[in-house]
Amino acid sequence: MTTEPGVTKGATTSPTPEGGSPSVPPIMGDPGPSGRFGGFGGRFVPESLVPACAEVEAAFRSAWVDPAFHDEFRNILHHYGGRPTPVTECARLSQELGVRVLLKREDLAHTGSHKINNVIGQALLAIRMGKKRLIAETGAGQHGVATATAAALFGMECVVYMGEVDTERQELNVFRMELLGAEVRPVSSGSRTLKDAVNEALREWVASVGETHYCLGSVMGPHPFPWMVREFQRIIGDEARSQCRELLDGADPDVVVACAGGGSNAAGIFAGFADATRSELVAVEAAGGAALSMGIPGVLHGMHSALLQDEAGQILEASSISAGLDYPGIGPEHAHLAELGRARYVAADDAEVLDAFQLLARTEGIIPALESAHAIAWVAAASGAEIPSGSTVLINLSGRGDKDVAQVRDILRGRA
Ligand SMILES: Cc1ncc(COP(=O)(O)O)c(C=O)c1O
Repeated sequence: MTTEPGVTKGATTSPTPEGGSPSVPPIMGDPGPSGRFGGFGGRFVPESLVPACAEVEAAFRSAWVDPAFHDEFRNILHHYGGRPTPVTECARLSQELGVRVLLKREDLAHTGSHKINNVIGQALLAIRMGKKRLIAETGAGQHGVATATAAALFGMECVVYMGEVDTERQELNVFRMELLGAEVRPVSSGSRTLKDAVNEALREWVASVGETHYCLGSVMGPHPFPWMVREFQRIIGDEARSQCRELLDGADPDVVVACAGGGSNAAGIFAGFADATRSELVAVEAAGGAALSMGIPGVLHGMHSALLQDEAGQILEASSISAGLDYPGIGPEHAHLAELGRARYVAADDAEVLDAFQLLARTEGIIPALESAHAIAWVAAASGAEIPSGSTVLINLSGRGDKDVAQVRDILRGRA
């Protein structure tokens, strides 16, 4: 154990065959007390954080079997969060690409992305644990805005850590968080992006664990976060599965696609289709942060997963046009799904993403978040090739692009 969120290079993984045997856990089920997904996951934290993680796990286990907790969670997401979000048929984009495109509209959820689902769940859990204060890390600012929103809703104190680079490119979200009553603490260490914001949030949690819940924003970090955040996000996949069945005469889509930074919107939609044998699951990483396409196993931020590292095991800096995907790792369950072959991990580069951002705006009147535009970009590139013409493709539109419009304007006008 280290007192810093450290790195271990080259740890090996042991594939766990799944399905068939009753003793084998189902894909995307409960990882059990070890928090292991095959050879990935676990709880690699300083000793001082072990009781805090155990407390969160115990609280989540008891809440998640409590119908009253589910009622409250779903009620708030319905009346406050705007759920269920619709599935939209994209006639003009489908015509252009030669595949039938459906969008799961997380951009229409309150605060503009899927992040609100997880945050409402964790805020309710924090209240159950008697915590009065939320801390969070944020990249694009969407998780920070969602956490600040939940803190305002429930009357809690809120501090959000954000890399300095991200505070500049997501200036509007910094102001939104402040309006919502949160304190935004810029992080000036390392690459000054999401990785460094997570480091700072973990450090602060060690120091203030008595009154503070660390509301982690993706399916990453130490157990139980990867599992718990996936469960809070599974509402996306559960809704989408039944919405698709209505639209597709009882069938499932051929391909389900989502962008992946830490991997929470992808895990949420994949969870609804994990047992849908017809549906291929595809996660699209940023080309400059493609932990599963380019990384190797190691330990960072309390989890054993696929990470971008150099020969000496030092974490490499990710680089992406989108702050939310600018992360050198990915949640451990994704590493496991890749190992099992249940999900496929691909990448889109910044130029493809900029084209996709404009394509969706022009053809459907929907401006996507730059993160979500990665999923559109891969579908645009793969249609008619890896995705046969005529296929039905469900894309998780994880967020709306209002936060990105100024950045894209400057890039397109040659100012950035
Ligand atoms: C709109 C949007 N989509 C996706 C992501 C990436 O996160 P995750 O991979 O956990 O869904 C972010 C992160 O900030 C985001 O804001």
